[in-house]
Parts: sequence; structure tokens; C-alpha cells
Amino acid sequence: MSEILLQIDGREVKAKEGMTILEAAQSAGIFIPTLCHHEKLEPYGACRICTVEIETRGRTNLVAACLYPVEPNLVVRTRSKRVDKVRKMLLELMLAHAPDSPKLQDLAQEYGADKTRFEKEPSFCILCGLCVRYCAEVKKKNAIAFVNRGPRREIMFIPEIAAKECWNCKECFPLCPTSALQANYLLTEAIMALPPSRTGV
Ligand code: SF4
Ligand code: FES
Repeated sequence: MSEILLQIDGREVKAKEGMTILEAAQSAGIFIPTLCHHEKLEPYGACRICTVEIETRGRTNLVAACLYPVEPNLVVRTRSKRVDKVRKMLLELMLAHAPDSPKLQDLAQEYGADKTRFEKEPSFCILCGLCVRYCAEVKKKNAIAFVNRGPRREIMFIPEIAAKECWNCKECFPLCPTSALQANYLLTEAIMALPPSRTGV
């Protein structure tokens, strides 16, 4: 695999062909915030909090660092006015769903995001997909899935699988950037504990 030289925040960084900007930055100890990224999972590109500014072939663009592959002579800025503005707006939108998430609150402080900017829609889930993808890709159990479309999209434990697989696993719990996953699991457990006539089974 050939070596690629790029510049991140004014520093020359050596990366391997096929690496993303995020991987190159992490290998050089340069921090880029992420919410839907996990090193064991395929890149997903859902949260966009990893947005960075790049300069290539004379053009400047905003890209998701967890998806964009490194190129020779790429110039990357992990913080700029445009980057910070995008991250601030994304955080304000996510905080409308999960206003009490400590992870979002920390980021909000860093980027000056106002958690009251958008009307609250506390679904508590920011649809990062970490739980769904970890269960499918790493555990190969598919005990959690996305259901519905558009604004009604949410995660759901599949009770028949969760009853068998989740009680001694719960590896997805610490991945959730909000408390949505734990709350959803408790609800599933309560439903599973109901007598069959009450669950409609
Ligand atoms: S429940 Fe948590 S981990 Fe799962 S998609 Fe929602 S925010 Fe992400
Ligand atoms: S971490 Fe890159 S889009 Fe979520």
C-alpha cells in the first residue's frame, strides 16, 4: 500500500492509501469529533459532526472526514469558521432530540450551540445507528433495527431476538451517545415480561 502525504491543520501527515481523513488524523493524534463512527464498523456518515474543510485541486469543500479518502497533497482544516458553523447547527438539531445527552452537551459547549434554538422533539435518539450496526456487523445478531421512515424513524429491539441474545450482552449500551438505547431496552424488557394476552402475542 503506497504512502500518501497530506496536510492536516498545517501539519504534514503520512497516511496509507485507502485511509479516510479521520483515520489519518487519528493516527497523527489530531482530534476530529465523531458521533456515528466506530473503528469496528463500516463507515456510515450519518451524523456529519466530523465535517472538515478540504482544499484539493484549487477548490475548497466541506466533507465528512469519516468517509472521505486521503489524497496526495490534500489540505485539511479540522476547525474553521465554516466547519464550526456546520457543527454548531448539527448540534442544535441533535439537541432538540436529546437535550440531556452529556456527550452532546460537551460538544455544544465547544461549538457554542444553543440547545433551545429548535423546538424540542425528544425522541432521545439521534439515529447514529451505532447500536443497530454494532449488533448486526460485530455481534451478527440483528436484535436492533431501524423502523419507520422520515421523521418517524426510530430504533427498535426485536423482542424475540432480544429475549434470547441481549440479557448477557448489552455491548451496544456504552456506544449510545444519548440514553435512548437503554430506555428502549427497558421498555422492550417490560413488554417481554407482560403475559401473552397483554402483548397481543
Ligand atoms: S439508540 Fe443511541 S446508539 Fe442507537 S441509533 Fe439512537 S442514538 Fe444511536
Ligand atoms: S462521524 Fe462522520 S458522519 Fe458521523
